[in-house]
Amino acid sequence: MRVTFIGLGIMGSRMAKNLLNNNVTLHVFNRSTEPMRELEKFGATLAKSYSEAVQGADIVFTMLSSPEVVEKIALSDNGFISEMKNNAIWVDCSTVNPSFSHKESIAAKNHHIRFMDAPVAGTRPHAENAELVFFVGGEIGDLKEIEPFLSYMGNKIVHVGGIGKGAALKMLVNSLLAQSMAAFAETILLGEKLGLSKDYLLDNLPNLPVSAPFTKAKAEMIRADNYEAQFPLELMYKDLHLVALTAYENNQPLLMANLAKELYANAKRGGFGRKDFASLYKFLSQ
Ligand SMILES: NC(=O)c1ccc[n+]([C@@H]2O[C@H](COP(=O)([O-])OP(=O)(O)OC[C@H]3O[C@@H](n4cnc5c(N)ncnc54)[C@H](OP(=O)(O)O)[C@@H]3O)[C@@H](O)[C@H]2O)c1
Repeated sequence: MRVTFIGLGIMGSRMAKNLLNNNVTLHVFNRSTEPMRELEKFGATLAKSYSEAVQGADIVFTMLSSPEVVEKIALSDNGFISEMKNNAIWVDCSTVNPSFSHKESIAAKNHHIRFMDAPVAGTRPHAENAELVFFVGGEIGDLKEIEPFLSYMGNKIVHVGGIGKGAALKMLVNSLLAQSMAAFAETILLGEKLGLSKDYLLDNLPNLPVSAPFTKAKAEMIRADNYEAQFPLELMYKDLHLVALTAYENNQPLLMANLAKELYANAKRGGFGRKDFASLYKFLSQ
């Protein structure tokens, strides 16, 4: 099997590395060259273009920032899907909206290739330690073919349903994640105003039954005042935009997620875009 990985950012670089760790024959391409050079040390073959990367591949994974970027690289007139061999599988792990997954699937069919949406839950350390959870949409038979590769990058594979269903579940997860972070950040700030020490709040609030478990890790970022990105805030803003778009397309009112979206918009404008989304606390504290 020849496998290609496109998009070597925070997540993709680590996912590709885990494929190499498992002796997968891997071709890679990325807009900036530095992450490619890094993977070359571990045996990756570097392509010179998206088209060259996918030619002859049986499976192509993409891990790109947004639907717009996927559209440009994969679906546009000279997008890479026109270079893929018949019946190959394109697995998009990027977080995109479900209606975009359907668009990807239709375009793939038109080019005689198969498509699966397979976004992930988990962040940088989970990508590094092959502990991602895959939410997969698509045919079960196609999933069987890609499963060994997903299991090199993650430790749980959930077949949610047909095309777009993986993306659908991912929208829900990130809607909850974004709102929980916002609630956590402003609750800590209120606690401090009430005279409780920051350390006391960071030690205790994440352990309450009412708290989302991921806040334990975010509490440590807040304590250390270190917001090096595991999940960049600008991508959370993008995800809330996709959540809002999905709600609009399905005629479903969504009040709280839209409120959170505007909060992240302001934090991004305040210069926190490439910081971890936990930096919402710092933004609000200012
Ligand atoms: N980080 C997380 O915790 C996390 C968790 C779950 C899901 N996700 C999702 O996974 C995807 C990747 O996230 P990430 O954290 O790895 O993001 P990232 O570090 O910002 O990487 C984004 C990737 O997209 C490429 N890219 C961006 N704009 C491009 C453009 N205009 N043309 C070509 N390539 C472009 C980047 O190339 P360059 O290297 O050249 O910039 C890089 O390969 C996103 O959809 C995100 O929502 C992230």
